[in-house]
Amino acid sequence: MKQQILNYELATDTLRGLTADPKYLLSKYFYDDAGSAIFQDIMQMPEYYLTDCEFEIFTTYRKQISESFHEGVQAFDLIELGSGDGLKTKILLQFLVNNAVDFRYIPIDISHKANVDLLNSLKSELPVLNVSPKTGDYFQEVEKLNGYSGLRKVFLFLGSNIGNFSDDEIDRFFSQLSTLCHKGDKLLVGFDLKKSPEVIMKAYSDPHGHTRRFNLNHLIRINRELNANFNPENFEHQAVYDPQTGAAKSFLVSTVVQSVYIADLNERIHFDKWEPIFMELSRKFDQSTIERIAAEHGFGVESQFTDKRDYFVNSLWVKK
Ligand code: AVJ
Repeated sequence: MKQQILNYELATDTLRGLTADPKYLLSKYFYDDAGSAIFQDIMQMPEYYLTDCEFEIFTTYRKQISESFHEGVQAFDLIELGSGDGLKTKILLQFLVNNAVDFRYIPIDISHKANVDLLNSLKSELPVLNVSPKTGDYFQEVEKLNGYSGLRKVFLFLGSNIGNFSDDEIDRFFSQLSTLCHKGDKLLVGFDLKKSPEVIMKAYSDPHGHTRRFNLNHLIRINRELNANFNPENFEHQAVYDPQTGAAKSFLVSTVVQSVYIADLNERIHFDKWEPIFMELSRKFDQSTIERIAAEHGFGVESQFTDKRDYFVNSLWVKK
């Protein structure tokens, strides 16, 4: 007997994406329990420089970053969008706790398991930390924060999660945050910067096969949650990078003519030989674009923290 309740959002988004021309799937659905675990494997590989860069930046600038968060106020709410395993954030959390700063940590993640694991690890590593995790999609959870408390809000949006957004989504996201923010509220956003295409390609087309597994896991999730019969062996993972737009894109390409049946959608999806599914955009930015996005949404850039190689920036914004 099938016990699982149909995930309507996954169902409608999958139907829309796989009946579109060209076909696509939404990257937010990568993060089921298995996908969140594979993403941790990705973050640990040397080719995935993004995590190391942000780790270096936080270790180097934790004092400046923490001081900016609580400068001029008694207490604040630290809200992280897409907290995952919180490994990098813990550098800041530890520093704030050690300096007896009064704040509350609100991690928001789409993976319930990631939240439970994070909460458990924080309880043992930083027992005095005031933490209240929330599970859900960022856009929906951020909306619920409206009128949450009168304290300064400091948002964390790390790891270049922003790279997954199209121009429209970037605009919608920062407009939403800007409406929610009061003067003096802050945002720390991680942007992956344009760099040697070779370096970028290695991060998204790794020799360990983690990125391939990460993409194929999306099909496996559809098989499990929507009763489909994707055969992952009939798809090849391919990453590409366009240095002009800074768009790194991932595709799963059908290696054969095939049709896949998705029982819960009552839909048969046809694939031509070499037809791709667009899986993910991981955009790379330049400094001028970052400053423009901030200015367009009513934020001033307070600091740009970069790593030694200038691969990545954590941009600290303040609401005007
Ligand atoms: C979590 C969106 C920042 O785009 O670099 C890693 C996800 N995809 N490898 C990224 C990802 C393939 C990652 N983000």
